[in-house]
Amino acid sequence: MAAYEPVLLRNKGVENSTALKVYESRGGYQALRKALKMNPEEVVEEVKRANLRGRGGAGFPAGVKWGFLPKDRTVTYLCVNSDESEPPTFSNRVLIEIDPHMLVEGTIITAYATRAQVAYIYMRVEFHEQFHILQKAIDEAYAAGYLGSKVLGSDFALECYIHRGAGAYVCGEETGLIESIEGKRGCPRIKPPFPAVEGLFYKPTVVNNVETLCNVPHIIERGADWFTGIGPQHSTGPKLFCISGPVNKPGCYEGAMDITVRDLIEREDMGGGMLPGKKVKGVLPGGVSVGILTADELDMKMDFQDPAKYGLLGLGTAAAVVIDQDTDMRSVLRNMARFYGTESCGQCTQCREGTAWMHTIARRIEADGGRIEDLDIIAETARSMGMMPGLSICGLSDGATYPLETIVKKFHSELEESIRAQSPTETDALAGAVGH
Ligand SMILES: Cc1cc2nc3c(=O)[nH]c(=O)nc-3n(C[C@H](O)[C@H](O)[C@H](O)COP(=O)(O)O)c2cc1C
Ligand code: SF4
Repeated sequence: MAAYEPVLLRNKGVENSTALKVYESRGGYQALRKALKMNPEEVVEEVKRANLRGRGGAGFPAGVKWGFLPKDRTVTYLCVNSDESEPPTFSNRVLIEIDPHMLVEGTIITAYATRAQVAYIYMRVEFHEQFHILQKAIDEAYAAGYLGSKVLGSDFALECYIHRGAGAYVCGEETGLIESIEGKRGCPRIKPPFPAVEGLFYKPTVVNNVETLCNVPHIIERGADWFTGIGPQHSTGPKLFCISGPVNKPGCYEGAMDITVRDLIEREDMGGGMLPGKKVKGVLPGGVSVGILTADELDMKMDFQDPAKYGLLGLGTAAAVVIDQDTDMRSVLRNMARFYGTESCGQCTQCREGTAWMHTIARRIEADGGRIEDLDIIAETARSMGMMPGLSICGLSDGATYPLETIVKKFHSELEESIRAQSPTETDALAGAVGH
């Protein structure tokens, strides 16, 4: 395999990498200078040509999204999504810790391309240290003339603020995030209208993930052809992958999207293999919301297309959690169900009730009152909720259904065995009664 040259993590290990002077000495802010010599439409066009797909979970092409902004707008906002509340996901945090100016530069170029006058970086409240790192970078950028009323002496003006969240998963959903910045409860809005048309303060707004925007300076500096030369045609450019669980080197790694889940676990420059005595039982490869893989499915590619072949929702946040042979799948099921049951904002009946019911059922499966039919009830509940059947305002309920349904489906015999072992008489009687 050809050696991969890190781009997003290129300043990892560099002394004082968060400082402006160090960032500049390594080529930082040259892309901004280049972008300011282009007109905004040319910048949008270059990002479109690169086919930069959003790194926040849905994989929507960034340049196409920017193109949805109304042509005749006067006010435009840019919201940078650094909520990063998806379990096992920490690539945004790593980027901010290592290279906050890369995010600031990406934010400024994106604001220039989309003609945004104000950028809000929405940061999850638990990022205390990262907040100070990023605020210092923003202060340095203002002092150096990269932000403010005349960016690098041009007519382009940009104000940039960090807005700190209050700790809700649903505030990472783009319209929940917008409501939260407006000072309201982070309850997602019905779409359409989409934020590009009616977003923050009901004005045209672009919402993009931190990693998405960190790619922008590199596209401008090196060109769309360079970007499309990395990874498969449908999944171009550098990508960060997180891995956690019983592997030798849990962490955040960079590569092209041609790697497999097995590579992420086993490669020496990535997870470094399983801990001694541990074997893979399952992997949640894209954060938890995309669903689960069995140990026989590790050849799935970490790109935007392959996950669907394995019954998953998508690539998600490309953050994998490895589950080993000693982990009881009933506890994984209950843990997932608890998360979504707690985080549902409650606006949509099927999400509010469905996640709560699935949690109740998963709890009783794990405790000692499980019944074989509970597995079917979870699968059926999961199938009947979400944006996909057109029943919910946001994607949280789809994200809740995939892990639960795929765990029940792919680990059915293990779950069934545990239920039978817990209360054989009752479960057999019940199974008979419901025709199993
Ligand atoms: C429940 C929920 C939580 C989300 N959390 C995040 C998040 O923490 N960070 C993020 O970038 N996107 C998150 N998203 C996706 C955003 O709605 C949106 O698609 C994304 O910020 C757009 O950026 P991108 O196009 O650059 O990926 C979440 C979506 C849902 C449904
Ligand atoms: S799907 Fe769930 S989290 Fe999303 S708006 Fe509806 S109730 Fe709230």
